[in-house]
Amino acid sequence: MSRLVVKNLTKIFSLGFFSKRRIEAVKNVSFEVKEKEIVSLVGESGSGKTTTAKMILRLLPPTSGEIYFEGKDIWKDIKDRESLVEFRRKVHAVFQDPFASYNPFYPVERTLWQAISLLENKPSNKKEALELIKESLFRVGIDPKDVLGKYPHQISGGQKQRIMIARCWILRPLLIVADEPTSMIDASSRGGIIKLLEELREEQGTSIIFITHDLGLAYYVSDNIFVMKNGEIVERGHPDKVVLEPTHEYTKLLVGSIPKLYRKLEDL
Ligand SMILES: Nc1ncnc2c1ncn2[C@@H]1O[C@H](COP(=O)(O)OP(=O)(O)O)[C@@H](O)[C@H]1O
Ligand SMILES: [Mg+2]
Repeated sequence: MSRLVVKNLTKIFSLGFFSKRRIEAVKNVSFEVKEKEIVSLVGESGSGKTTTAKMILRLLPPTSGEIYFEGKDIWKDIKDRESLVEFRRKVHAVFQDPFASYNPFYPVERTLWQAISLLENKPSNKKEALELIKESLFRVGIDPKDVLGKYPHQISGGQKQRIMIARCWILRPLLIVADEPTSMIDASSRGGIIKLLEELREEQGTSIIFITHDLGLAYYVSDNIFVMKNGEIVERGHPDKVVLEPTHEYTKLLVGSIPKLYRKLEDL
């Protein structure tokens, strides 16, 4: 059974109260994500990637279509608070803007305390909880004393994204939706973030939806690629197939824009 099944997902935004202007942000999108699989949604800005992610994360209701997580329709079968907490424990988001994920008025570890509060088997006291927080920070390559007690503006974007991944070591989600997690942090930290996601997949069997506008990066990290344009999936398949034998004009365009350094991989 697939961990996530997205079926004919559609989102139409209506602009203004009386205006008839409609934006079809996501059109009839279907795909599946299996256990331990990394799939990429690739497309230019405005292609509907974030809207798709928000519907999967249960942050934005679809206009039509279904999303099944572990066999349950997340918009129809999750009715009470308890099942919503369970869903939040199992499906985790890493957003593009690491600043927006933190409240500027609280020390950054607050997000880790919140993760602990979602746990089914919580640590029995504060000291144990703090140990768990420190361990999760070590797992993402952060020395706890570099970040504990600091406020969001006092640490780097890369550190902020790492702490979002530290949450995953605490919560052990089954699915992570990472929406352009590396696009707003400096280039030197990017590889590290990708590597941390791959480690989670290896060690916990996490499934990951990796959202990016960079087909080269998607080629490098994913088991399956879905190329989106104007809200639709226009090409899908194994990275080798999508990148080496693209059929859609738009995919060909994206392949053409992959830097040469990446394209050398084709020759291996
Ligand atoms: N809340 C909203 N209201 C109206 N239009 C929106 C809203 N969110 C996104 N859109 C529009 O939907 C389309 C897809 O946007 P988005 O999903 O953010 O694309 P991407 O993440 O691929 O850049 C764009 O045309 C965008 O302007
Ligand atoms: Mg986006």
